[in-house]
Amino acid sequence: MSTTKGQNTAYQKVLYPAGIFPQTHPDRLATIGTLRGMRPVSINCCRVLELACGAGNNLIAMASNLSGSEFVGVDLAKNAIASGQALVAGLGLENIRLHHLDVRHVTRERFDRFDYIIAHGLYSWVPRSVREYILAGCREMLNKQGIAYISYNAQPGNHLRDLSRGIMRYHVAHFKDPKEKIRQARGILKFLAESRVKANPYITALKAEFERVVKYTDEVFFHDDLSEIKSYPIQPDWVLALRFSPDGRKVAVGRYDGSLEIYDAPE
Ligand SMILES: C[S@@+](CC[C@H](N)C(=O)[O-])C[C@H]1O[C@@H](n2cnc3c(N)ncnc32)[C@H](O)[C@@H]1O
Repeated sequence: MSTTKGQNTAYQKVLYPAGIFPQTHPDRLATIGTLRGMRPVSINCCRVLELACGAGNNLIAMASNLSGSEFVGVDLAKNAIASGQALVAGLGLENIRLHHLDVRHVTRERFDRFDYIIAHGLYSWVPRSVREYILAGCREMLNKQGIAYISYNAQPGNHLRDLSRGIMRYHVAHFKDPKEKIRQARGILKFLAESRVKANPYITALKAEFERVVKYTDEVFFHDDLSEIKSYPIQPDWVLALRFSPDGRKVAVGRYDGSLEIYDAPE
């Protein structure tokens, strides 16, 4: 099943290593939800969706331990999904499906609703239209008491990272081959980080960045630090705090720009 035929993304050319992220596990999400007064669905009989699951390792690990729950993963990288599907078949798992699909084609009509939705390492690296879909899709497909986990790089904290990213991307712009881009980017960052005996705050920041990316594999470095999309700035209308009145009938919403709104609470 695919509506993404023929797309050849950067993630297909340079395969992103498949990882497992404990912070996205429904057990953890349900625990946090419970501590915050929600009544999340039991993780033993829930439906979990992962947007941009890559090769699916994160979901496969969950599915193999939670046989009464159902897992759906989608990703645009065809070869990553194919390797995940082969692993699922090899393990004989019946409760997980991986689809080669753009997240914008994941709809409630097609997949129904979910109790947990995960989007790890996606939001900050996709165009605005995809970001908007991620939020709208979660709203449309989450069950009541459902929980979405969306990781992102927020400004202003990410400015330091964007400093080295800007230099490296400028330096490698005219190289076509990913391997050469990676080599050149690592080279310019090392050169600048070591360029002064007496460091100033600028060089200190670049040194810290050099020490961060030196630990990355080439594939992660290529996508996380050299890709086109930048981190996502904090928006003035972002919700920073949300409180229900003691009788549960009103909800107060505090936004990043300092505004406070009071609404009738949803059912
Ligand atoms: C940085 S990787 C993260 C993969 C995995 N979630 C992780 O955290 O390791 C980004 C993933 O998003 C996928 N992706 C990017 N845009 C997408 C889209 N519009 N629809 C589906 N997947 C997309 C890429 O193919 C890639 O696998």
